[in-house]
Amino acid sequence: MTRNNQMLLALPLLGGAAGHVSKSGAGKLPSLGWNSWNMYGCDIDEAKFLAAAQKMIDTGLKDAGYNYVNVDDCWSLKTGRSDDGHIQVNMTRFPNGLDGLASKIHDMGLKIGIYSTAGTATCAGYPASLEHEETDAADWASWGIDYLKYDNCNVPDNWKDEYVFCHPDYVKTNSNGTCTPEITENLAPPGYDWRTSKSFDRFKRMKDALDKQDHEIVYNLCIWGTADVFSWGKDIAISWRMSNDINAHWDTVTHIINLNSFYLNSVDFWSHNDADMLEVGNNLSDAEARSHFALWAAMKSPLLIGTDLDKLSQSNIDILKNRRLLAFSQDETVGAPAKPYKWGINPDWTYNSTNPAEFWAGDSENGILVLMLNTLGETDSKTAVWSEIPGLDGNCKHRVTNVWTGEDLGCLGEYKADVESHDTAAILVSKHSCH
Ligand SMILES: *[C@@H]1O[C@H](CO)[C@@H](O)[C@H](O)[C@H]1NC(C)=O
Ligand SMILES: *[C@@H]1O[C@H](CO)[C@@H](O)[C@H](O)[C@H]1NC(C)=O
Ligand SMILES: *[C@@H]1O[C@H](CO)[C@@H](O)[C@H](O)[C@H]1NC(C)=O
Ligand SMILES: *[C@@H]1O[C@H](CO)[C@@H](O)[C@H](O)[C@H]1NC(C)=O
Repeated sequence: MTRNNQMLLALPLLGGAAGHVSKSGAGKLPSLGWNSWNMYGCDIDEAKFLAAAQKMIDTGLKDAGYNYVNVDDCWSLKTGRSDDGHIQVNMTRFPNGLDGLASKIHDMGLKIGIYSTAGTATCAGYPASLEHEETDAADWASWGIDYLKYDNCNVPDNWKDEYVFCHPDYVKTNSNGTCTPEITENLAPPGYDWRTSKSFDRFKRMKDALDKQDHEIVYNLCIWGTADVFSWGKDIAISWRMSNDINAHWDTVTHIINLNSFYLNSVDFWSHNDADMLEVGNNLSDAEARSHFALWAAMKSPLLIGTDLDKLSQSNIDILKNRRLLAFSQDETVGAPAKPYKWGINPDWTYNSTNPAEFWAGDSENGILVLMLNTLGETDSKTAVWSEIPGLDGNCKHRVTNVWTGEDLGCLGEYKADVESHDTAAILVSKHSCH
């Protein structure tokens, strides 16, 4: 949780060496798509996925780049595997099987994801894949599945880790998010290599099984930021959850922003911290939805929409389709995410879930993306000062574009905005100075 930890985490990434690289190129950039869980939980069926896929096309989300339609938990028969050891699709929910659904989704020009768990049962209690990896991977590949979200519930005792990783969502930490042996039980010793942990083994077994299939399935670890996945996730997967679950409350949005701001050195091409699925459309104000989406795009999280697209407001559709933020997320030339250059309300590097870092910047082929988040309960005036921002010459004026509207704001010596409560001012600043 300290600046020093960040620097240690950065070392293995120097040179940008990627671990897991897919043949098709899928996974180099953050995944974009839709997932059933945040809206429907276990209440899923084929019609809901087809409706979501059709809506992705009709609203222009597909054209904007969203291409995964991901089935989450509860797709199988809860009663268990078949006599010959296969997870069985619930044919009441999916009358054409998941292979039938996959082929319809593919015909719509989209890809399909599935869900399982590296435990004895999924989080909702359905059959899961630990010690069944090869059977399940082969079934999914034969159905045409393109993406796997692999969760972390119901880990049996013989697969539990020896130590805990210091992560404020799960273990007792100091108020600044750090751990010490005095307050945190069973902390891993300094220098412990988490690649020797059972968690690494549990998730690596599925990577090995996926690798044996003819059909490519990209791999997302829903490991919740445990077992220091930040130091090894890229060896086996394209993305990994970095926290506990999000929900439709502003508090969890700021909590995840706060946590992720300390883990961003593990993000690059082929290597993405998953800040969890989007709650845009679910009980957030438009200002909150803007901040949530802008930060997720800036942190290069996967962007998986989690709402009923039929009910989504046009203003929220426009947020999800924001061309400039999607271009930052999907930049082929810069893999690194935006990072905080200043905390704002709190001193730099303060761990604080309600008032995380407010001033963010990141390089891209379209210029420097600058975000100014207002975590306060009232409108606040915020200024982007070029000399504080990495990559900008503070002695010059720079051309500024409003990310939300696309408006060219001209050549400015700084950018000042009144930012509504929970909203985010977002600009692109040209790296060249104006003449
Ligand atoms: C975090 O808090 C602990 C205990 O209060 C303190 O010892 C440590 O120095 C703090 N670390 C940072 C980075 O502020
Ligand atoms: C299959 O899905 C139906 C419809 O949602 C549900 O009522 C039923 O309990 C499921 N069957 C099993 C065995 O999980
Ligand atoms: C919606 O968000 C508000 C403010 O965060 C919260 O108090 C409320 O419980 C949320 N409602 C639902 C249904 O999640
Ligand atoms: C988070 O920061 C705010 C603003 O400085 C402060 O009022 C609040 O007490 C902090 N929260 C914690 C848990 O330290």
